[in-house]
Amino acid sequence: MTASSIGKICAAVIGCGRMGAVTSDAMRRFAPAAWMPLSHAEAVVTQPSLELVGVCDIEPGLLASAVARFGVPGYADYHELLDNLRPELVTVATRTPERPDIISAAVAAGVRALHLEKPLCNSVAQLTQLEALLATPSLACTFGTLRRYMPIYRRALELAGGAEFGGLNQVQVNMGKAPLMWTHPHSIDLLLFFAGDRRVKSVSAHFAESSVERQGSRLDGDPVVVSVLFEFDDGLTGLIGQTGGCDVILAGSNGTITVESDGRRLRMRSSEGDDAYWDRLCVEEADGDPGGTRLALDRLVDGLNGNTNQVLADKRAILTGQRLLLACGQSHLAGGAAVDPNELDPDLVITGRSGNRYA
Ligand SMILES: NC(=O)c1ccc[n+]([C@@H]2O[C@H](COP(=O)([O-])OP(=O)(O)OC[C@H]3O[C@@H](n4cnc5c(N)ncnc54)[C@H](O)[C@@H]3O)[C@@H](O)[C@H]2O)c1
Repeated sequence: MTASSIGKICAAVIGCGRMGAVTSDAMRRFAPAAWMPLSHAEAVVTQPSLELVGVCDIEPGLLASAVARFGVPGYADYHELLDNLRPELVTVATRTPERPDIISAAVAAGVRALHLEKPLCNSVAQLTQLEALLATPSLACTFGTLRRYMPIYRRALELAGGAEFGGLNQVQVNMGKAPLMWTHPHSIDLLLFFAGDRRVKSVSAHFAESSVERQGSRLDGDPVVVSVLFEFDDGLTGLIGQTGGCDVILAGSNGTITVESDGRRLRMRSSEGDDAYWDRLCVEEADGDPGGTRLALDRLVDGLNGNTNQVLADKRAILTGQRLLLACGQSHLAGGAAVDPNELDPDLVITGRSGNRYA
């Protein structure tokens, strides 16, 4: 383990764009407080057990700004950063195509904790390699799907487990008419978060045809999702459609729980006695505390300190979520047929490209 000069865990950030170091103005203006600090570097410097020891970006201007702002050495090549600084914790905020190689290099360099941006990768072949690489129980991982770490989503999970709710039947995630690889890693992670230990049996997906080009087993583009149905082993269903608002709706036999507007508030509807109308309303506002990427880093630090249960569960969710994203692509290629996520075409690729940028 590499300890900093002041006994903290050495951490480095690879990729100094918006998620790495420069939170976008739109997020600062509109996102609920629980999303800040959002950028990896901003979150690392607020975590008391971590010391930011270096940053990396191939773009000289962004690297120079991050070096100036955070006062740490900058590297244009992540191999050099890993060799010279030997960080124990690394965060990866590049786009997806370079991510699997960066993860492999970090693991080879002895990194023991990774915070990774979503999505994980672009193909079944890469996923298979990453499943093997990340299998080491001592490697802790968290993901950019931050809602699972936020208190208001955890509160919704707790309420959905209550006897009054009558059991969870359906989870619906409303992220608007949105691209699979950019937006829906968040939706799928929410489904997995609320589904807990249940297993997805099948995935049926439809994309807007014009949003993606088929080239055999390769989907070039970032497919705009029309609908996805996830069927779990106990009958729970997960739905992604085109409704917006950044809400997630949990449906139980006796009511609904909605986490609204990316966690601004939680709204529960239920009935009085046998009333078929769910007119009893209870609203809880978010506490207004900060959180964001810092919440994921807190969990990684916990993992490094030996509390591994949650980070191991996160790692499973990261890999399963990526499998489900790819299963959406396979289902679309099969005309929307139900696909078993454990039986994916080994040649399947989803590039996640929008113009010359990747998800
Ligand atoms: N968690 C979230 O809510 C959330 C929000 C937005 C974006 N994202 C994800 O975060 C990732 C980054 O998105 P962004 O908007 O910050 O992108 P960005 O383009 O602003 O930043 C990516 C940075 O990575 C750098 N980079 C590329 N290759 C590199 C390499 N080999 N070594 C070092 N640096 C390299 C680029 O120069 C760029 O500065 C994407 O995968 C995106 O899907 C997550």
